[in-house]
Amino acid sequence: MKIEDYVLSIPDFPEPGIVFRDVTSILQDADGLHLAVDLMQEKLEGIDFDLVVGPESRGFIFGVPIAYNMHKPFIPVRKEGKLPRETVSVEYELEYGTGVLEIHKDAIKPGQRVVIIDDLMATGGTNQAIINLVESLGATVVKTVFLMELKGLKGRDKLVGYDVESIIAYEGK
Ligand code: PRP
Ligand code: MG
Repeated sequence: MKIEDYVLSIPDFPEPGIVFRDVTSILQDADGLHLAVDLMQEKLEGIDFDLVVGPESRGFIFGVPIAYNMHKPFIPVRKEGKLPRETVSVEYELEYGTGVLEIHKDAIKPGQRVVIIDDLMATGGTNQAIINLVESLGATVVKTVFLMELKGLKGRDKLVGYDVESIIAYEGK
């Protein structure tokens, strides 16, 4: 089976007119999970990097196995108020209003080379916010790998100049 075949598309979720691309349908199949992690990890072959950053919560699902396999640290980006030590934070756009993402200040050192892993690029706002956090700590984002991309939302317009790859690209929103 191809990776696309594992993704169930749910019409009218979470609201009418939206087709939800369900990552859990990949995860609940052992072969689907292996294939997703392997395909994402392949995109990092030959890339010189120091650590993997992934956002709560779906970014953890793929970020940790990739970091583990490649023997790199994994640095979580979390929603506001969850991290216990000193953080840097950034505000970002949500569908309704704004949110805040945080990262531990001591987790990334100036000059380090960072890879971002997440399940989905929609508007690109989450990735843009994470890039902001990483750069505010003096580090460089060398690549982002998404499992899925919704091309119709034009997330790449927010990420011009950055190396962004996805495994499955859907034309629509
Ligand atoms: C979803 C998804 C991506 C983000 C993509 O996460 O997992 O992280 O949205 O959207 P964007 O490109 O428009 O920013 P969500 O914030 O829903 O949280 P979750 O991972 O905890 O489900
Ligand atoms: Mg997410």
